[in-house]
Amino acid sequence: MHREGRSGIFVPKISLTSTAPPMNPAFYNPLGEYKRDVMVHMVSSYAVNLTNGVRFADILAGVGAGGIRVGNESRNVGRVFLNDLNPNAMQLASLSIKQNGIGEKFTKSGEEANFFLSNHSSREERFDIIDIDPFGSPTPYLDSALRALNIGGILCATSTDGQVLCGLYPNVSLRRYGGYSLNTDYCQEIAIRLMLGSLAFAASRHNLGISPTFAHTEKHYTRIYAMVTDNSADLDGRLGFISQCNACPSRSVGPLMIGVCPDCRSTCKAAGPLWIGELFDLRILTKAVELRPEGKLEQMFIAAREEVELPATFYVTDSITSLIGSSSVPIAYAIDSLKGLGYKSSRTILNKKGFRTDACTDDIIAVFLSFRD
Ligand SMILES: C[S@@+](CC[C@H](N)C(=O)[O-])C[C@H]1O[C@@H](n2cnc3c(N)ncnc32)[C@H](O)[C@@H]1O
Ligand SMILES: [Zn+2]
Repeated sequence: MHREGRSGIFVPKISLTSTAPPMNPAFYNPLGEYKRDVMVHMVSSYAVNLTNGVRFADILAGVGAGGIRVGNESRNVGRVFLNDLNPNAMQLASLSIKQNGIGEKFTKSGEEANFFLSNHSSREERFDIIDIDPFGSPTPYLDSALRALNIGGILCATSTDGQVLCGLYPNVSLRRYGGYSLNTDYCQEIAIRLMLGSLAFAASRHNLGISPTFAHTEKHYTRIYAMVTDNSADLDGRLGFISQCNACPSRSVGPLMIGVCPDCRSTCKAAGPLWIGELFDLRILTKAVELRPEGKLEQMFIAAREEVELPATFYVTDSITSLIGSSSVPIAYAIDSLKGLGYKSSRTILNKKGFRTDACTDDIIAVFLSFRD
């Protein structure tokens, strides 16, 4: 038995030693521990103040590490549904559920995920939180997940097709997510926004809206969390394009693409259509911090709170220094100097060398040049 968080999980031995965890006999990826830590905590932050225990569905559960940890470790979870087509995975999940002594909360099934979700689309059968954690893109499951989610519920989704979302295959991104990706230094944010855009378009097909609560990205995956609302007008003004100048750091975020840079008149390239609204929900993040998670998680939620109200898209210190031909500038210097000029600025959890600001391009560059002086 393998330990993750405060739970014991039965996993195939080979998945702990192999570089690419195999599908057989069942899937478990130890590198996914952090995203499951985050999910356990996000579920608590959402559920802790609700009157009834939440219904959580892990529709592509593998050996059940995510769902079992939510059932065992998150606050106020009433019922957990684990579903996976692979019967070996569900057998291991049964052992783990028994081991953790939480059998009364769990329902297991071995159905195709869309079929499973369709069978839970009637009002009484719906879930409060659904996790979609596939190989590759979550888009094949979005429509049925939206139909199986209560209004005000949370949809969590992973993408592992980072090359598509980060601009290596923009045409694949268009057909898979409905928007062109772009190879920029802030492509992690574009990846998140493409996922949210795809979810928003799916929601609008069902007369629903979305309100993102959190997102994060690591080397192998991008994760989004979004609340589903009953008003598709919530999407108005939140879908559009990001246009990036080919010559300078200037970028524009808005309902239309921009062909010419407003700062230097060079041509621009664009990503989208994608989500251009808020990425994080301050109330959920505040609750996440109040619940006092451990070390790295606490730091991440505190840092995320700082950037909630800052503009879309971040700058990367190394990209600016290489553009102006200077040696590296500490990120703290850049942020403090911008604040000293009266601008807002903060780090971003999406990139260690990334910062957000409402400053104009000229003043950002001036700050970087001032470090050289
Ligand atoms: C990336 S793994 C899930 C990992 C798991 N959520 C975790 O945190 O460890 C994807 C799982 O989806 C299952 N699967 C793939 N396609 C499916 C489908 N259409 N319906 C149900 N399960 C499916 C696979 O058997 C595999 O266990
Ligand atoms: Zn420009």
